[in-house]
Amino acid sequence: MLEARNITKSYTLPGQQAIPILRGINLLIGEGEMVTIVGASGSGKTTLLNVLGTLDTPDSGEILFDKEQLFRDKKYTLSPKALAKFRNQKIGFVFQFHHLLSDFTAIENVAMPEFIATGKLPPAKKRAAELLESLGLSERLDHLPSELSGGEQQRVAIARALMNRPKLVLADEPSGNLDSKNSRMLYELMAKLSKERKTSFIIVTHNEEYAALSDRCLHMQDGLLHAGFEAVM
Ligand SMILES: Nc1ncnc2c1ncn2[C@@H]1O[C@H](COP(=O)(O)OP(=O)(O)O)[C@@H](O)[C@H]1O
Ligand SMILES: [Mg+2]
Repeated sequence: MLEARNITKSYTLPGQQAIPILRGINLLIGEGEMVTIVGASGSGKTTLLNVLGTLDTPDSGEILFDKEQLFRDKKYTLSPKALAKFRNQKIGFVFQFHHLLSDFTAIENVAMPEFIATGKLPPAKKRAAELLESLGLSERLDHLPSELSGGEQQRVAIARALMNRPKLVLADEPSGNLDSKNSRMLYELMAKLSKERKTSFIIVTHNEEYAALSDRCLHMQDGLLHAGFEAVM
């Protein structure tokens, strides 16, 4: 589904030498596979997710999505406009802090990606309601983010990420803000969704216990990914 080949990226601060962050990442993600990435703070996990999500440009390497070249020879194969459309249609993002729009209700937040893509609000809201109901939030459709618990906010963020039926969801420490009970529920939910919907998930987490709920866990160290374990499922 997603393939990254020999991805490198370094950052250069003014007047300093370039610091390599990703030193040759190779990654192959299957359809419906849930992969977790653990690693020390500053090891480059967020940078990698941003690169895989085409939010950040690597220095070199290749990215293939559904067998199509997305990045090679140091540039994207799509125009910036086409790349933005690709991202809206194929990839869902979940961040550590939910990043919901505070002036919009749960259903409006979830409807937003489809509304942006189609310009049609009623069908977007209908599907948003269905998604929220399937995530156990049928009583919370018209609540503002500030009227939801942390766990509910992250479930709304997952519903929003799933709205355009993406092939891939990228989640950066999605439970960073939650207690252990809600964190576990969130990981169980993502594991269920990856299998039911054949959506691939790449999730950065600091918690190896939750990583064990995934199909495969990878360790980020010194700018490289190392195999963790194959979870028995
Ligand atoms: N925009 C940037 N400019 C310069 N350095 C950056 C930038 N973004 C991240 N870094 C550096 O890259 C390293 C990896 O960061 P990050 O990917 O956020 O790590 P992680 O998510 O694993 O904690 C850190 O040392 C960080 O300071
Ligand atoms: Mg990070």
